[in-house]
Amino acid sequence: MLTELELAHLRAEVAARPLPRHVGIIMDGNGRWAEQRSLPRLEGHRRGSDSVREVTRAARKLGLPALTLYAFSAQNWQRPPDEVSGLMDLLRDYLHRERPEIMDNGIRLHAIGELDRLPARVRDPLEELRRDSAGNSDMVLTLALSYGGREEIVAMARRVAEDARAGALRLDSIDAEAIEERLWTAGLPPLELVVRTSGEVRVSNFLLWQLAYAEIHLTETLWPDFGEEALLVALDDFQQRERRFGKTSAQTRRAR
Ligand code: FPP
Repeated sequence: MLTELELAHLRAEVAARPLPRHVGIIMDGNGRWAEQRSLPRLEGHRRGSDSVREVTRAARKLGLPALTLYAFSAQNWQRPPDEVSGLMDLLRDYLHRERPEIMDNGIRLHAIGELDRLPARVRDPLEELRRDSAGNSDMVLTLALSYGGREEIVAMARRVAEDARAGALRLDSIDAEAIEERLWTAGLPPLELVVRTSGEVRVSNFLLWQLAYAEIHLTETLWPDFGEEALLVALDDFQQRERRFGKTSAQTRRAR
């Protein structure tokens, strides 16, 4: 852990260099965090929602344009019913509790995923906060809820087929842009950094299309222990990378 002075120094260094336009986080390790302390798994998720608040605050202060958090996957419905229900309660509480902070800080709340599968106690406050924060423009916070990258690609393929059948999209106009316009992430900045916590080295169905040119930062830190310092370390790591997009190192340096 850094001292206050070292943290302030890292914060200033990171803020002075170009930030990624869009950061995605696979928040993992809540269960292990709880098990290591002989606590119920839900306590890990509860502490995880405190990390959501701290990381969102830090991202907003730094001026990150977009943050996407993988809060509940399409596959997470298969967890024990008590855990699913506890997670839905945490999401409901989060949406009520964080509303003032989101509104006061110019944050636009957005959500991606199969949102109609969410229970009304989550869907209703989510829709309300989405609507009320729609005019905010300082940062977009996207919650991936009942989200799966393959599910998103299937939904996109259906929209492409429907638009083609309706005559709104010609087959020779189907390109990367036409696809991006039909993904759930349409309108968000390109994903430039993905962070995965808890030492796992998997993509786990997160933003599959969008990951194409994202940098990946892996950390052993469990999500409930992830806070401002860990976010700054991930951003610092991103800022050391050379992003080449298929070109050579020399070409990339010339274009800078
Ligand atoms: C993965 O940990 C985490 C989740 C499945 C849920 C993430 C949820 C939160 C951080 C809290 C609620 C979210 C918001 C936005 C308020 P895991 O349970 O798979 O951990 P494990 O691999 O150690 O078991």
